[in-house]
Parts: sequence; C-alpha cells; structure tokens
Amino acid sequence: MRRTILIAEDEEKMRRILEVNLQDRYRILLAQDGEEALRIFKESPVNLILTDMKMPGKDGLSLLHEVKRLRPEIPVIVITAYGTIESAVHAMKEGATDYLLKPIKMEEVKLVIERALQQVDLIDENRQLREEIKSLYGIDTIISKHPKMIEMMEIVRQVADSKATVLIQGESGTGKELVARAIHFNSERAGFPFVVVNCSAIPRELLESELFGHEKGAFTGAMKRKIGSFESAHRGTLFLDEIGEMPKELQVKILRAIEGYRFTRLGGGEEIDVDVRLITATNRDLKAAVEAGEFREDLYYRLHVVTIKLPPLRERREDIPLLAVHFIEKHRKEVRGKEFVISDKAIQALENYSWPGNVRELENCMLRAMLLSRSNRIELEDLPPEVRGDEGETVHPVPKDSQELRRMKWLLKRKAEDELERIFLKEALKRNRGNISRTALDVGMDRRQLQNLIRKHRIVAREFKEATEKTNLPQGQ
Ligand SMILES: Nc1ncnc2c1ncn2[C@@H]1O[C@H](COP(=O)(O)OP(=O)(O)OP(=O)(O)O)[C@@H](O)[C@H]1O
Ligand SMILES: [Mg+2]
Repeated sequence: MRRTILIAEDEEKMRRILEVNLQDRYRILLAQDGEEALRIFKESPVNLILTDMKMPGKDGLSLLHEVKRLRPEIPVIVITAYGTIESAVHAMKEGATDYLLKPIKMEEVKLVIERALQQVDLIDENRQLREEIKSLYGIDTIISKHPKMIEMMEIVRQVADSKATVLIQGESGTGKELVARAIHFNSERAGFPFVVVNCSAIPRELLESELFGHEKGAFTGAMKRKIGSFESAHRGTLFLDEIGEMPKELQVKILRAIEGYRFTRLGGGEEIDVDVRLITATNRDLKAAVEAGEFREDLYYRLHVVTIKLPPLRERREDIPLLAVHFIEKHRKEVRGKEFVISDKAIQALENYSWPGNVRELENCMLRAMLLSRSNRIELEDLPPEVRGDEGETVHPVPKDSQELRRMKWLLKRKAEDELERIFLKEALKRNRGNISRTALDVGMDRRQLQNLIRKHRIVAREFKEATEKTNLPQGQ
C-alpha cells in the first residue's frame, strides 16, 4: 500500500523538488506552512511528515508539538538550514524522528524516510506480537466468575510488573501454571524467557545442575558446560513448580541465589549475576511443611511475599459450565473445527462431580468427550464413568442357576481383566510421560495394538505428559 507523506515547506521550489522526487513511491500532500499542514493532518490519513523548520506563522517546531500531542506514533522528519543544527537537535529532543540538513540530497531524503517508516512497521509488529501473546497467555485466558478468583486476577494485575516473588498454592490442576504465565506475560518481562522447572519431576541429583548449571567436568558425565534455569531465565521469569518437593540441601542454595541474584555454576568459580523474577507453586501446605521441619522457614518467607491461593474446582462449581464451553472452543482444532454443544444432562453431571483433578481433569474430560462423541452433541454417555456417577454400581446379585453363574463369572472376569489393563496402561504411560511410541517399546507391544487398547479404555495419553519445558519467546523484537 502506498503511504502518504505530508510535506510542509514554504518555499515553492523546494516543495516541487520534493514532490517530483517522491511521488512515484508515496502519495504526497503539500502544505505551505504549519497551519495548513496541521489542517491537512487532521483531515486525511498521513503516515509521515516532512517539515521545514523555518516557516512563516506556525513553524516546524510547533507543528511537531501538535502532531506529537495528537498522534505520537507518526514520524516527523525536520528539515533545517545548514548552520542551524541546534534547532535540529532541539527538534529531536522534542520527538522528531530524524532531521535533514539543507541543501538536501534526494538520496538521503529517501533513505531517512524509508528508515522512519520501517521503524513504525517494527513498532506495529511488536505491538501485534505482544497482543497475540497476551491473548494466548494473558489474564483473559483465566476463566472464572467466582469472587475469589476475580480477586486473585486483580492481584495478578497489580503485582505483575513488580519483581516480588509470588507463591501460588492450590491443588493439582487448579491453574497454578496458568496464573504464573499470566503474571509473566502481563509484566514488562514478557519479551524475555519464561522458564519452568518442575522440582518433583527432576531427580534430586540432577536438580542442582538444572537450576544453576555446571562447567565442563564438574562431575563425571558433565561433558560440556550447561546453562542452568536461573541463567536462561535472565530478564524473564523463573517458575519453580512443586517447590514443596525441593530437597532441603537445595533450599538453602536457592535462598542464597535469590538473596543477591548471584550464584556460581557447579564446578565453576565465576559469579553470575542475573535479573530474574521468581514464581513458585506448590500443592502442599508450605506453612505446615515449615512447621513439620521439612521446609526452611527463611526460604518460605522469601517466597511468599505475595501469596495466591487457588480454590479447588468443587468450591466454585459455577465455573464448571463456563469452563466446559471454554475447553470445547479451545480444543476445536483437534477435532477439525467441529462445533459442539453439551446436553443438559451432561452439564448436570459435570456440575455434580467432585473433580479431584480440578480444572485439568475437566479439560481432559471435555477433550475426551469431543474425541469420542459420534454427533456434535456431548451426551452423558460421552463422559467417563466416574463423572457420570455410575462407578461401583455393579452390585452383583447372587446367581440362581448354573447358566447365570457362568455368565456372571464371565462378566466378573472381564471386569477384573479390564481393570488390570487400565492400571497397566496408566502406569506404563506415566512412566513414559504419555509418549506412545516409547510406551509401546517399554511394554513390548506394537504401537497400533497399544493405541487400540488406549482407545478401548478411553484414556487420553497426553494426560501423562509432564510439564517441564522452557518457553523462550523472541526477545523484545
Ligand atoms: N481458570 C481457568 N481457565 C481456563 N483454563 C484453566 C483454568 N484453570 C486451569 N486451566 C487449564 O487447566 C489446565 C491445568 O492448569 P495448570 O497446568 O495451570 O494447573 P496446575 O495447578 O499447574 O496443575 P498441577 O498442580 O497438576 O501442575 C491447563 O490446561 C490450564 O490452561
Ligand atoms: Mg502445574
């Protein structure tokens, strides 16, 4: 698209030269002085202003002032006579994007204009990217109408931009990581990494090097230098999940690291300074752990500068229908964009269930229902038995004849076998973090066979995926 450049210049000849040289690339609007320029600027879409400094009436500087007040994003380039460079410097201080000295060279004019427009594009792109990221991870992704949750979101907004450490407490699946991300992506650190370490998923002997890194040869097996999470989160946020599982000997090291934001890699001498915002989460009652002597009191005080408590889903049942609909929308891509509605009976069942796995369990339940449903309506039958509420309902009547005995024996055997298969699958998937190929290899089954079995038991393999990943976003571009 051709951009529009507004040229303010009192000298007729100069106006013409500029117009002739620029009109094949840009749409040109001409003004004889600042007054006229401002009127045109208010009436037509303008992408850039090129203005002479000295003009009768309203001069370049006051035009610059007006434009910056009305639309600060519009680049203004000032043209000034040789020998009055101070006025150019002044204009730059007042927000001009660039300046040109008379006598002007057209090559230079074109270059300066192009550079200014590119800069605007970049800022635009950056803003779009930020908005996209916010819509993916921002506070708006937290769905709830429960007063406690709304209060919590307000706290998130307030503390996002500070460096205060935040402790997020809540049962498994209540949205702790979601909240941690919302804090990060609403802060000025959003353009820098958000690094997640799940303290309970990493073997104790590896955790220290995961956090602080190590030098080559620090221990047997340390083949090369490793950058730890504290370092890779520099200028961003480090999210320590399941902090309650942190071994005591490491707790003291964390404490030391966050006291001065300074540490050394394992086997290294060099002290490394980092600027990191720390967010921790736990499903344990950390205070109780402190009282039981399992968690260092001093570290606890450092971590819970701000505490966020996420209520379990069963204490905010009004969120269930809202979340159910949200997850249908969220996972539509996975069912090739198919639209879904939920039957009243299914909603009722969802509302009545206790959700020990909280929001994550509800999300998996919805995804599974969408995958299993044969129509575009999620029915009671598409929900897992525990949610439908008919688990353990099979009370066996005493068989009355040999035929019944045979039939019931067969049924019982089937049920026991099913149960065994289910546990077997779940454990194997857990061991292999939901990776089907690896699980197949592990249990000595071929992949297809395993997948059929998984389908038969309505298990969703990705439920077993562990959250230990790093999110590195493009840095501040
Ligand atoms: N209020 C909510 N609105 C929308 N999605 C939510 C909400 N709470 C949780 N979720 C979703 O539920 C899933 C589980 O949330 P998350 O991983 O943040 O929980 P968690 O508390 O960290 O769980 P765990 O203790 O098991 O690690 C995620 O996919 C998340 O996006
Ligand atoms: Mg989590």
